[in-house]
Amino acid sequence: MCGIVGYWGPEKPKKVILDGLRSLEYRGYDSAGVAIFDSSKLKVVRSPGKLSQLEEKIKSSEFTGPSGIGHTRWATHGAPNEKNAHPHKVGSIAVVHNGIIENYIEIKEKLAKKKIMPSSDTDSELIAHLLSLECKKGKNLLEATLNVIPQLRGAYSILVVNEDEPDTLLAFKNATPMLVGIGEKEIIIASDVQAFISRTNRVAYLEDGEIVLSKKGQVKFFNVRGQEITNKKIHEVKWNSVMAEKAGFDHFMQKEIFEQPQALRQTMESHVDHDSMTVKLKPTGLTDAQFKKFSRIQLIACGTAWHAALVAKYFFERVTKISTQVDIASEFRYGHSILEKDTLVIVVTQSGETADTLACLRLCKKEGHKTLAVVNVPHSSIDRESHGRLYTNAGPEIGVCSTKAFTSQIVALQLLALHMARLRKSCKVTEIQEHVRALLELPSQVEVCLNHDKWFKEAALSLTAYRGFLYIGRGVNYPVALEGALKLKEITYLHAEGYPSGELKHGPIALVDSSMAVVAMASKDELYEKNVSNIEEVRARGAQIIAIGTEDDAHLRRLSRHYLSIPKATWATNSILMAIPVQLLSYHVAVALKRDVDQPRNLAKSVTVE
Ligand code: F6R
Repeated sequence: MCGIVGYWGPEKPKKVILDGLRSLEYRGYDSAGVAIFDSSKLKVVRSPGKLSQLEEKIKSSEFTGPSGIGHTRWATHGAPNEKNAHPHKVGSIAVVHNGIIENYIEIKEKLAKKKIMPSSDTDSELIAHLLSLECKKGKNLLEATLNVIPQLRGAYSILVVNEDEPDTLLAFKNATPMLVGIGEKEIIIASDVQAFISRTNRVAYLEDGEIVLSKKGQVKFFNVRGQEITNKKIHEVKWNSVMAEKAGFDHFMQKEIFEQPQALRQTMESHVDHDSMTVKLKPTGLTDAQFKKFSRIQLIACGTAWHAALVAKYFFERVTKISTQVDIASEFRYGHSILEKDTLVIVVTQSGETADTLACLRLCKKEGHKTLAVVNVPHSSIDRESHGRLYTNAGPEIGVCSTKAFTSQIVALQLLALHMARLRKSCKVTEIQEHVRALLELPSQVEVCLNHDKWFKEAALSLTAYRGFLYIGRGVNYPVALEGALKLKEITYLHAEGYPSGELKHGPIALVDSSMAVVAMASKDELYEKNVSNIEEVRARGAQIIAIGTEDDAHLRRLSRHYLSIPKATWATNSILMAIPVQLLSYHVAVALKRDVDQPRNLAKSVTVE
C-alpha cells in the first residue's frame, strides 16, 4: 500500500515521477505529492485525492532537477487530506513512506520532550524529524539513517532526499517492498517494477534491513551496520510496459477478465507432458522426494487468493489423498496453529507482497516447514523467500479487483496437486489424464464464456436496484460463491454474502424476500439436484434468481430470472468457468452504477500492511 517513486537522472524528474506514480496508483489513491529539486531548492507539492489533482496543481511548475521523490497514499494514520499527504519535509530532509511505524506514539513522545511537534497526524512525518535531528548533529544521510533504523518498529519502505545533497537518493526498508531500477544514466527507486519498466528492466530488490544510497547515479548497498554489500544481485525483469496498458479496454479489470484464456495457457505452459497427458512441473525448488513425503498440506492466503486456495482444497484431497487445511493469513499468523512435522505450507498470492501472507511464510519457515509459493509476481518478497515456487504466469494484474489471478491460481494449484498425485500414485493414471485433458480444454471454454458477455451485461443491468445479494454454491463452487460476493462488494459497494447452499436454512434464508437477488452456482455435477432444491427454496420466498448452470439447462432457465451458462466441464474445472460470469456480472453492475472500477474506494492492490 502506498506507491513510492524516486528519480535521479538527465530527464525532467517531474515527468518520470508522475509517470511512475500513475502506474503505482493501484497501491493507494487517497492523496499524492512530490518533493522535486528546482535549482537548489527542494519544492514540495501535495494534494488530497487522486494523482490527477496533484498533476493539475503542478501542471505549470518547472522543476529543474536533477532528482526528486513522489508518493501516492493509502491512508493509515491520519485523514486523507493535504496536511497528511507525503512527502513530509523537515529541515532539509524530505521523506516518503509506505507501511506503518508501530511505535509511533513512543517516538512522538520522545520528540515532544525535545519540543518537536509534528504538523501532520501521520507516523511517517516522525521519520523525517528523526533523520533531520541526526543531520543537525553533523551526520551525513547514511550515518543519520543508520542511527534512525534502530528507533523504528514496524513495516516500512522509506525513500529520502536531502536538500543539501541534490544528487543523492537514499532508501531503506523492512517488510514492505522497495526496488532499485538501474538505467543507463539514471536511477529510479520505487515500490514496484511497473514504475520504471518502460525505462529499464535491470532491477535490484532491497532486502529487509538493507539501505541503498545513490549518488550521481552510483549505487551502493549497505546493511544496518553500515557495511557495504558488494555482491548485490541485479535481475533482468521480463515483464514490459505494454503488458500494463489497457489495450483498448475501458478498464484494467475488463482487460484482465478477457485475458484469462491466455493467462491460463501461460499458467500451464511447459508443465504438461502432452504425450503421457500428465503433469511434470518445471523445477519448483522442492524435490520429487520431498513431494512424496508430505503428509499434510496447509494453504495460506488472503482475499481472492484465499478463495482460490479453498477451491484447491477439494482438489488436493481428492487427488493426493492428503489432508489439506486452508487458512486466512491474518488469522493463521496469530492463531498458534499446530502444524505436523511433514506439512507442506503453500502460500498463494498474486503480488507476492501481502504483509500477512509474507509473515505466515516466515513463521512457518522458522518452525522448520517446507514452503512453496504459488505467486504471480516474479522476484517479489514471497517468491524470493519461499523454498519453492510455482508461478501463475498470468502477467501483470493492475485492476484492484483480482480476476485473472484467481483462475490462474486455481489452475496452478491443480497442476501441483496432479504432480504430487502422479509421484505418490494416489490416484489412477487415467484419472490424472482426465483432469489434464479438462485443464487443457479450459482456455477455449473460458473463451466461450467470454463470448456470452452480452448476456452477463443484460443480467447485470437488472441487478442494480436490489437491496442485497446472496451468492450460493456447494463443494468447489462454494468458494466461487464467496469470490462472487467479494467481487460485487468491492467494486459496486452493494451488500453481498457468499454462502454454502446447504447452510441457508441455518439462518441466512431469513434475509430472503423479493428485494433479494440470489446468484446460484448450479453446474451439472454430483451436487446439481441438491443445488436446485436450494434454489427452489429461495425462489419460493420471493428471491430473484440468477442461475449459472451447464449449457442450456431448461429447468434452471425456468426457475430463474436470468440464466447464464457455462460449457460442460468436469467437477474440477466447473469452478474456474463459474468465475467468469461472476466477474463479468460485478463488472457490469459497477459500470452501470458509475463506480470507479479499477480504483474502488478504500482499497489498494498490494496490501503491505497488516
Ligand atoms: C480482491 C483482491 C484481494 C487480494 C488479496 C490478496 O479482488 O484483490 O482480496 O486477493 O489482497 O492479495 P495477493 O494475492 O496479492 O496476496
